[in-house]
Amino acid sequence: MSKQFDVVVIGGGPGGYIAAIRAAQLGFSVACIDAWSNDKGGPALGGTCTNVGCIPSKALLQSSEHFEHAGHAFADHGIKVKGLELDVAQMLARKNTIVKQNNDGIVYLFKKNKVTFFHGHGSFAAAADGVYTIKVVGKTEESISAKHIVIATGSNARALPGTAFDEEMILSNDGALTIGAVPKKLGVIGAGVIGLEMGSVWRRCGAQVTVLEGLPTFLGAVDEQIAKEAHKLFVKQGLSINLGVKIGEIVKGKKDVTVNYTDDKGVEQKAVFDKLIISIGRTPNTNGLNAEGVGLQLDERGFIAVDGDCKTNLPNVWAVGDVVRGPMLAHKAEEEGVAVAERIAGQHGHVNFNTIPWVIYTSPEIAWVGRTEQQLKADGVAYKAGTFPFMANGRARALGDTSGMVKFLADATTDEILGVHIVGPMASELISEAVVAMEFRASAEDIARICHAHPSLSEATKEAALAVDKRSLNF
Ligand code: FAD
Ligand code: NAI
Repeated sequence: MSKQFDVVVIGGGPGGYIAAIRAAQLGFSVACIDAWSNDKGGPALGGTCTNVGCIPSKALLQSSEHFEHAGHAFADHGIKVKGLELDVAQMLARKNTIVKQNNDGIVYLFKKNKVTFFHGHGSFAAAADGVYTIKVVGKTEESISAKHIVIATGSNARALPGTAFDEEMILSNDGALTIGAVPKKLGVIGAGVIGLEMGSVWRRCGAQVTVLEGLPTFLGAVDEQIAKEAHKLFVKQGLSINLGVKIGEIVKGKKDVTVNYTDDKGVEQKAVFDKLIISIGRTPNTNGLNAEGVGLQLDERGFIAVDGDCKTNLPNVWAVGDVVRGPMLAHKAEEEGVAVAERIAGQHGHVNFNTIPWVIYTSPEIAWVGRTEQQLKADGVAYKAGTFPFMANGRARALGDTSGMVKFLADATTDEILGVHIVGPMASELISEAVVAMEFRASAEDIARICHAHPSLSEATKEAALAVDKRSLNF
C-alpha cells in the first residue's frame, strides 16, 4: 500500500523544493523526493544550485575576490598586507560549510511547512484512475502516490563527445568547485557563465587561465556594447580568451591534459593544462524517470515538453526548472515552482519570461533584463539608448571600482523600458530596480524622476535613464 499525498515533487533543487513549500502553504499534503547525497550518504537538499552551482560558486568567487583585493586593491587604500597566502583547503571548507547551511535550511523549511521528504531516486511506477504511483529507491524502497506530480529533476553538465569528466583533471562544474590546489595552467572550454565565473575564481587565486570558446563572438546573448566592455576588462585582468576555436582531440596524460584545437585563423594549436574545465552548457536530467513507461513526452532537445503553464502531456503532471525549456536559472526554476503550485490550487500562477534577470558573477558583474540592442535592431523596434559610466559615479570611485556602465534601452515613442544592461560593481543588486521597473512597465522617465540615495551605485541607473533623454547630469 503506497503512502498517499495530494502533490509529489520529484527533485529538491530550487524548482522542486520551492514548489513543495508553496503547495504545502496552499493546504496540500506534499511529498518531495530528492536523490542528492552528501559525502556521508545523507540527504543534501537544494539540488545543483545549492550543492554544485549557485551557492558554492559564489562562495569561491567571494573568497578569491578578497584574496585578489588583499594582493592588489588594498594598497591603494593605504592598507599594507605582508605575507599574503592563500589557504585553498580553508577556502573550500568555508564553501562546504555554506553549502551545508543551505542544505540544512531546506530541511528546516520542509519541517516548518510539513513537507514530507524522501531521500532517494523517484520514478513513475504506474498511472491509474488519475493517480500516479512513484517508486522511491533510497536506502529502502517504497511507493508513494498522488494526483499531482511536479517534475523538477534539473540538469547535468554536458560532456564533449569522446571526453568523459573524470573530475580529477577533466572537470565539470562539480570538479571545478573542489580543485584542491591552485592549478598553474587552467584550461576552460566554453566562455559561458560557468567558464567565466570559475575561470575568474582560479585566475584570482593565481592560475594562468586560457578560455577556448567555439563561437566567434564573446557572450553572444549579452548586449554587444556590454559584452565588448566586459571582454576588454577580463582580458586586462589576465584571462586569455580565445574565440572561434574548434576543439579537436583532448589527450589525458599522467599529470596534465592536452587540448588540440584550431584557432580562429584556422591554425592548429596545442595547449597543455594541469586542469581542464569543460563548461559547454547543460543537458536536462530525465534519466531513470521512466518517462517512456507512462508516455511522458520529451521535446526534440530532450527537455520535458511543457506548455506555457508548465503542463506536460500527462494530466496533472507538471515540470519546472532546468528540465524544461527556458533559461537554466535558479530563480526561473523557483518562479515556475511557485506558479505550478498555485495553478494546482486553481489560482493563476504567473511567470513573466520578459523580466527574468541574468547575472554573471564575475568582477565586474554583468547583469541584464529585457532585450539587447542587437535584438531590438533585429526586431525593427525604434528605440533610444542611454548609458552612464561608473567612472562618473562618486560611490564607485569611493569603492575603487569604476569599471563598466549602466545602459538603458527605451521605446522611441512611448519611452517604455525595453532592456537594462549593466557591467560594473554590484550589477547583481542594481538590476533589481530595472526588473521592478519593467514589471510595472515603467518608462525611462519614471526612473529618471525617482530620487536615488547619494552617494550610491544606483545613481548610475538614474543617470543612464536620464541619458536616454540626453540629459544626464554628472557626465
Ligand atoms: P536542480 O537544481 O538541478 O535540482 C534537481 C534535483 O533533482 C537534484 O537534487 C537531483 O539530484 C534531483 N533529481 C534528479 N532526478 C531525480 C529523481 N529521478 N529522483 C529524485 N531526485 C532527482 N543559477 C542562477 O540563477 N544563479 C547562479 O548564480 C547560478 N550559478 C550556477 C553555477 C553553476 C556552477 C551551475 C552548474 C549552475 C548555476 N546556476 C545558477 C543554475 C542553477 O543551478 C540551476 O538553474 C538550478 O539549480 C535549476 O534548478 P532545478 O530545481 O530545476 O534543478
Ligand atoms: P553556457 O551556455 O553559459 O556557455 C557555454 C559556452 O560554451 C557557450 O559560449 C558556447 O558557445 C560554448 N561551447 C559550446 N560547445 C562548445 C564547444 N564544443 N567548443 C567550444 N565552446 C563551446 O553554459 P555553461 O557555462 O556550461 O553554464 C550552463 C548554464 O548554467 C548557464 O547557461 C546558466 O543557465 C547556468 N549558470 C548560471 C549562472 C548564473 O546565473 N550566474 C552561473 C553558472 C551557470
